[in-house]
Parts: sequence; C-alpha cells; structure tokens
Amino acid sequence: MIVSLVVAYDDCRGIGRGGSLPWHISADLALFKRITWGHHIVMGRQTFESIGRALPGRVTIVVTRSLENVPPGCHRAASLEDALAIAGQAGEQECFVIGGGQLYRAALCHADRIYASEIQGEFNCDTFFPPIQPEEWDERFATTITDERSGMRFRFRVLERRGRALPMPDILSEWANQG
Ligand SMILES: NC(=O)c1ccc[n+]([C@@H]2O[C@H](COP(=O)([O-])OP(=O)(O)OC[C@H]3O[C@@H](n4cnc5c(N)ncnc54)[C@H](OP(=O)(O)O)[C@@H]3O)[C@@H](O)[C@H]2O)c1
Repeated sequence: MIVSLVVAYDDCRGIGRGGSLPWHISADLALFKRITWGHHIVMGRQTFESIGRALPGRVTIVVTRSLENVPPGCHRAASLEDALAIAGQAGEQECFVIGGGQLYRAALCHADRIYASEIQGEFNCDTFFPPIQPEEWDERFATTITDERSGMRFRFRVLERRGRALPMPDILSEWANQG
C-alpha cells in the first residue's frame, strides 16, 4: 500500500491557524477531492473536529487517544500505525494522510508520496508541515494552478521518495488521458 500525504502549505510551511485552514481556495479543495476520492483518508482528531463530519466518497479514519466514539461510517485508530493497518487490511492501494500538523509529523517517515499545494504568501499560521529533506525526494510532477474564484495561484507538486518505483498517481493518469 502506498502511503501519501496531502497538504497545502504557505511560504513558511504553515498549514493552519486557530484550528482551521487560513485560506479558502476552491481549486485546491477540488484537487483534494479528486486525489482522495474513493480512498481511505487518515486524519488527526483536531482536523476531524475542524471538518466536523466524515467526508463523502472516502473512508475516514480518525487517529485519537482521547475520543471514545466517532460517527457512524468512520473508523477510530489509537495510532497512525493502527490506522494504516486498517486501510491495508481493507485492500487499500493508496492511503492518504490528510493532516494536521501532529499527524503529518508522525506520518512523514512512512510516506512514499507527498501531494503538496504550495500557497504563495505568509498566513500567520500556528500549525506547520514538518521540514522535508530535499535529497530524499524526487519531484514527479509540478504545475501552477490559478483559482478562478479568488485569483490566487498555487504550485501543485507531487513528490516521491527517492528510490521507490511507484506507479503513476491516478490524478496524473487522469490528466494525461484528458490530454
Ligand atoms: N493545510 C492543510 O493541508 C491542512 C490539513 C489538515 C489540517 N490542517 C490544519 O491543521 C490544524 C490541526 O493540526 P494539529 O496538529 O493541531 O492537530 P491534528 O494533527 O489534526 O490532530 C492532533 C490530534 O490527533 C491525535 N494524534 C495525532 N498524532 C497521533 C499519534 N501519532 N497517535 C495517536 N494520536 C495522535 C491526537 O488526538 P487526541 O488528543 O484525541 O489523542 C492529537 O491531539 C488545523 O488548523 C487544521 O485546519 C491543515
């Protein structure tokens, strides 16, 4: 099973402020939906509470040591490793860790791939994506996307851990097929 991180961060690797996203970029949300659709998604308890519900079309796994119950249709895991095991046992091919900061830190060493939306600017964040070692990663794909509604531009990059022979990400195959 491929373990992937999906993240949007700003120029300072900031990802969140006051428990929610510091920006609203429809094009990035749409991208997130396309990347994760039909797959298992794993998130920390704080991120789950900020979203407030299970996301449709995906299997949600909440990593928490404190929450006893999660809503119907969601799984609870006491550790990231347990969450990945749940997805693996279900036959998942690519499992997506979707944040937040604590969970990214725990997941980075397990990650084969990172889908990163690099948002231009500094957003005064209080939560951050961990630093990565550039020599451990290869850029598989990069493009600049403009959000039609806000006019904001961001760089979308797919990084893969050096030395891993991974199949092409589904979203890149889809884009290639669309010409
Ligand atoms: N920009 C982005 O792409 C993005 C994506 C997701 C989230 N965010 C933002 O990130 C912020 C939330 O991040 P956060 O770091 O505060 O919280 P978080 O990682 O979402 O959740 C932290 C909680 O998850 C549980 N947890 C995390 N790691 C664990 C581990 N290894 N084992 C067991 N439990 C673990 C713990 O829950 P218990 O306390 O219940 O034990 C912990 O308190 C929000 O602002 C959110 O909007 C941004």
